[in-house]
Amino acid sequence: MRYHLTTFGCQMNDHDSERMKGLLEGQGWSEVAERDDADLILFNTCTIRGSADERFLGNLGDAKRVKRHRPDVLVAVGGCWAQSQKEGVFRDFPFVDIAFGPAEITRLGELVARERLDAVGAFSLDGAFSSTLPAVRERPHQAWVQISTGCNCVCAYCIVPSVRGRERSRPAWDVVDEVRRLADEGVREVTLLGQNVNSYGRDLPRDERRTFADLLREVAAVAGIIRVRYSSPHPKDMRDDLIAAMAQCPEVGAHLHLPAQSGSTSVLRAMRRTYSRERYLDLVARLRDAIPDLSLTTDLIVGFPGETEHDFAQTMSLVEACAYDGAYTFLYSPRPGTEAAERLPDDVPHDTKRERIGRLVDLVQATAAARAQRFVGTEREVLVEGPSRTDPTRLRGRLSQNITTNFTGAAAPGQLAQVLIDAATSTTLTGHEVEVAVPA
Ligand code: 5AD
Ligand code: SF4
Repeated sequence: MRYHLTTFGCQMNDHDSERMKGLLEGQGWSEVAERDDADLILFNTCTIRGSADERFLGNLGDAKRVKRHRPDVLVAVGGCWAQSQKEGVFRDFPFVDIAFGPAEITRLGELVARERLDAVGAFSLDGAFSSTLPAVRERPHQAWVQISTGCNCVCAYCIVPSVRGRERSRPAWDVVDEVRRLADEGVREVTLLGQNVNSYGRDLPRDERRTFADLLREVAAVAGIIRVRYSSPHPKDMRDDLIAAMAQCPEVGAHLHLPAQSGSTSVLRAMRRTYSRERYLDLVARLRDAIPDLSLTTDLIVGFPGETEHDFAQTMSLVEACAYDGAYTFLYSPRPGTEAAERLPDDVPHDTKRERIGRLVDLVQATAAARAQRFVGTEREVLVEGPSRTDPTRLRGRLSQNITTNFTGAAAPGQLAQVLIDAATSTTLTGHEVEVAVPA
């Protein structure tokens, strides 16, 4: 009863994988480090871009190799890629025994426990929240908290609504109960997760309805929780009550990942993002007004159908205007079944896409490096996560602004260390501890 799990994709998949582990370990399975030693080879997949599919398929080939030597091994593929293929998984990859979508995770126990005869798939989009399962958490002081699943947006490029289904919110009392339990277990930082986290609550029955801002305040008020983050918000749902909650709750990190996707209003329209460049810039101005020390990061897509050099220049200038602390940049990848893939020709030549993203990455890095200098010479609270990855004699943690900091000091994981920042690169700060503040 040994399993091996490989996780691809976003934080929601990291969360879901912790729940798969909790479910399996509750049924007597234990994790092994090598696929060759496993009785169950499990994947939690992503299909956001073609490159995600390719990465996973390489790994699936390795499972096929193991299965050739040991035909009794169970191969199970869960998550977004599985959902995008449904029964086609078994046709194209006959060595796969089990396939299930991200809304069917709670059924994993039943799927692996049955008498093995035929391949079995589970692809409904309205199964129970994976948060109802026990978790095997990777990190003692930090936890993911799922507040909603699915997405009602119609972004033309995005496959997520078709694989994660309509948006469904977890009742606030249920979320807060979980956060209280986590705090009792020693968790200090929670990250609230949803595909579109800040449209939370609209689907709840009237007597249970809460806005995301209400929920954020309730979570921030839980004793023992000293940091609250959330991912990912949609700019269209960033209302003033949410900005105020962020500004007023010191527990809520001074960081926002606010996907812009493009700086060009006409590309944004073709993407069906429902905001213009001007509205996005206005939102950033209001955020910076309310939260002066805010660190802002984003996602940008290069080479969406119809993107001209002028459109791309608008994305470059958005990076400058918003002064991002970081950005994930992606080449547009047509996803089967999405509006863009079905209706819009993928007409930006690959070389042009590559050349543009090169310029964009350089600009993002220069902007982030310049922005990071503002921390140098200042004292900051760092929530300690453990030893530094490169030098185990030093500590690693993050600022409220979500910037990784390596420093010398004696604070323990889960504590807030007072750190004087000595130096900054575009992604990392270094410093030394001046005093330890133990959380109440
Ligand atoms: N092509 C390229 N990037 C994409 N993203 C989502 N779909 C696509 C696609 N088809 C990016 C968006 C999103 C991030 C998670 O992935 O920027 O915010
Ligand atoms: Fe990938 Fe999106 Fe699914 Fe996350 S929700 S695993 S990013 S396809």
